[in-house]
Amino acid sequence: MEREEYYKKFGWRKSPFIKSTSLDIPIIERIEEYEEVCECIGGWDRIMVVTAPIGYGKTTFMNQLSIKKPRGVKYVVPFNAYEPVEEVMEKVRAELPFVKRIFSKTDRTGFGEMLQSKLGDDKMLLVFDEAQDYENDLFKWLRILNDRTDNIFMIFLGLRGLEDRITAETSFRDRKSKSIGLRAFETEDLVEMIRQRIAWAGGKTIKPFTELGLVRLCESCKHVPRQLLENGQRLIEESAREDVEEIDEEFVESTLGRIKPETVEKMEAEEDRVVEAPVERGGFMQDLSPTQQEIVQMLLDHESLSIAEISEQLNKDIRSVGSLIRKLRGLNKKEVERKPNIPYPVVVRKGKEVRLGRLQYVFSLSDNSRRLLGSR
Ligand SMILES: Nc1ncnc2c1ncn2[C@@H]1O[C@H](COP(=O)(O)OP(=O)(O)OP(=O)(O)O)[C@@H](O)[C@H]1O
Ligand SMILES: [Mg+2]
Repeated sequence: MEREEYYKKFGWRKSPFIKSTSLDIPIIERIEEYEEVCECIGGWDRIMVVTAPIGYGKTTFMNQLSIKKPRGVKYVVPFNAYEPVEEVMEKVRAELPFVKRIFSKTDRTGFGEMLQSKLGDDKMLLVFDEAQDYENDLFKWLRILNDRTDNIFMIFLGLRGLEDRITAETSFRDRKSKSIGLRAFETEDLVEMIRQRIAWAGGKTIKPFTELGLVRLCESCKHVPRQLLENGQRLIEESAREDVEEIDEEFVESTLGRIKPETVEKMEAEEDRVVEAPVERGGFMQDLSPTQQEIVQMLLDHESLSIAEISEQLNKDIRSVGSLIRKLRGLNKKEVERKPNIPYPVVVRKGKEVRLGRLQYVFSLSDNSRRLLGSR
C-alpha cells in the first residue's frame, strides 16, 4: 500500500516520525535539567555547558528554553549553529525591544558595555547549539562580552568533549561555571513522546500501534530519541508495505529484530559466555541461564504470571525479563538452534489479564515443559 494512503487510515497528515526539531513539534519537557538551568541563573553561574551524545535532544532542549524562558530571564537568544561575531551581535540587538536597539557603538569591543546599559537589570540568556564546532574567534569575543556584561548568561550545547574544549580555550578557562548533562529518557517518556507526535500528525488514537507494540518500539532505541524516530519510521514503512492493521510487540520485533535494547544486548553477551552444560535426561533446567531457571521455577509455582510480576519478584529490569521470556517462547531463532535440548516454547502466552492494576499479557509454562520437568 502507498504510504500516504496508509497514513490516512489513521488520520495522519504526515509521518509522526519526521526527524525535525521545528518549534511546533511537541516537546517532552526536561524538568530537571530546566530546573538546573534556572538554579544556575538564580545563583549567577553565568556560563553553562550542556553536553549529550548525538540525537539525544540538545537542540530540542534549546527549543524548550526558548519557548519557556528560565525564571528571571527576560530575553533568550538561540543560535542554531556557529555564526561569526557580527551576526551574533546583530541577533542580540534584534532581540531587544525596538527603542533599545539603537547602539551608538556597534564594534566588537564596545558592544558589551553598550548592551549592559540597554539591559539594565534585565537578564539575557544566549544559547549556542553545536558549540563543539565554533571558531576560537567567537569564543574569545564571548569571553570579553561575558566580562563586560554582568547580566548576560550563556549556555553552550554540544557533544561530549565540548567541555574540554571550553576549558582548554584560554578564553574561557576559569570562567566556566557549571556543567549540565542531559539525562537518558525513560521508556515511559519516550512512549509519551510518540503519543504526542502521533496526535501532532493527526492521529486520534495510537493506532496502528498496540500499547505493547509502542513500548517495544521505545525500548529499541537505547534511550536515544533520534534513534527512536528512525526505528519508528522503519516500522511504519514496513507496515504500510504490508498494510498491517496492528503493530504489536511481535511485529516490532520481527522488523527491528536486530536493534536491541542495551539491557538485552548485555544479557545476551552474558549468556553467550555460559558454557553449555551436558544434557541430562528429563529436565532442561541446566541449559537455561540462572535467571531463566528462576523464571521457570516461578512458573512451576504459579499458573501464570505477567512480565511485570516476574520482574517485580526477581527485582530485575522489566526489559531483560521481557527478553528472556521471548527467548523462552522460542521467538529468537538463533536461540532455538543453539539450545536444541530446550523445548520451544518453554512458556506460552495465555492472553491478557489484569495484573498489578493493569491489563497485561500473562505467560505460563507449556505442557511440554511441565511434562519434561516432571510436574503434574
Ligand atoms: N524532549 C524531547 N521531546 C520530544 N522530542 C524530542 C525530545 N528530545 C529529542 N526529541 C526528538 O528527537 C530528535 C533528536 O533530538 P535533537 O535534534 O534535539 O537532538 P540533538 O542532541 O540536538 O542531536 P545532534 O547531536 O544531532 O545535534 C528530534 O527530532 C526531536 O524531535
Ligand atoms: Mg542538535
